[in-house]
Amino acid sequence: MSTWVVITAAGSGTRLGANAPKALVEVSGRTLLGLALERTLDLADLSGVVVTCPAGSEDMFANVVDKELPRMGVPRQVGLHFVAGGASRQASVKAGLDKVVSEGGEPADVVLIHDAARALAPTDLMDRLVEAVVEGALAVIPGLAVTDTIKQVAVDEHGVETVVATPDRRFLRVAQTPQAFLLGPLWDAHAAAADRGSTEETAATDDASLFEGVAVIPGSPLAFKVTTPEDLTNLTTALAQVSDPA
Ligand code: CTP
Ligand code: MG
Repeated sequence: MSTWVVITAAGSGTRLGANAPKALVEVSGRTLLGLALERTLDLADLSGVVVTCPAGSEDMFANVVDKELPRMGVPRQVGLHFVAGGASRQASVKAGLDKVVSEGGEPADVVLIHDAARALAPTDLMDRLVEAVVEGALAVIPGLAVTDTIKQVAVDEHGVETVVATPDRRFLRVAQTPQAFLLGPLWDAHAAAADRGSTEETAATDDASLFEGVAVIPGSPLAFKVTTPEDLTNLTTALAQVSDPA
């Protein structure tokens, strides 16, 4: 069984507020996309990687990655493809899946959907996700236990919030990426839900939302998402720790 990876990198990074697309923001001389790619290229039985880019930036992204590849310490043993993303993350994933299929991806292949914004998600997490699909799951996500008490709120027309529920946190998980799927069922789910992808408001925020019966395996603290400047500071610290564990 071969594995394909789609890395979403077509967002603008509005909440990070950098002068560049978030995926190309640098930490210690390395881009978020390069860090995510380095961990991805270490996967066994990889058939190809598709990166979704802001439309019109495909060549620029390819050049940045080409320059960074020598610093990744992994051989470029597979095809890397750069495609234009869409109006939402969901639409970008669909564009990435279309490219996987046009490059020869088969319905029974495994596909991981990853985010450049989760730059330090480790290869061993990807290995465990692929293994779960090989063992029979259609869809598998990494989940972390929740330690805070989570409140569901209602928001009135003035923006005033009122608590309406306190879900039992023993049964709550923070969903991460990469998420792993069989390519055929994932492509079908995206094709059926394509209308929702036209705006970020209606789009699914992760791919597993398009599925029933999703399996959960333990996530990784390193797979946190860079959204705000504070997350970028945390990434700098975490990168220094994984590069020099002593
Ligand atoms: N993404 C994408 N296509 C979009 C929107 C987002 O490929 N149309 C990707 C981002 O590049 C990121 C991942 O989806 O890797 C998660 O999205 P998010 O963290 O929201 O990143 P941005 O959309 O870039 O950030 P913001 O929402 O703050 O603008
Ligand atoms: Mg976004």
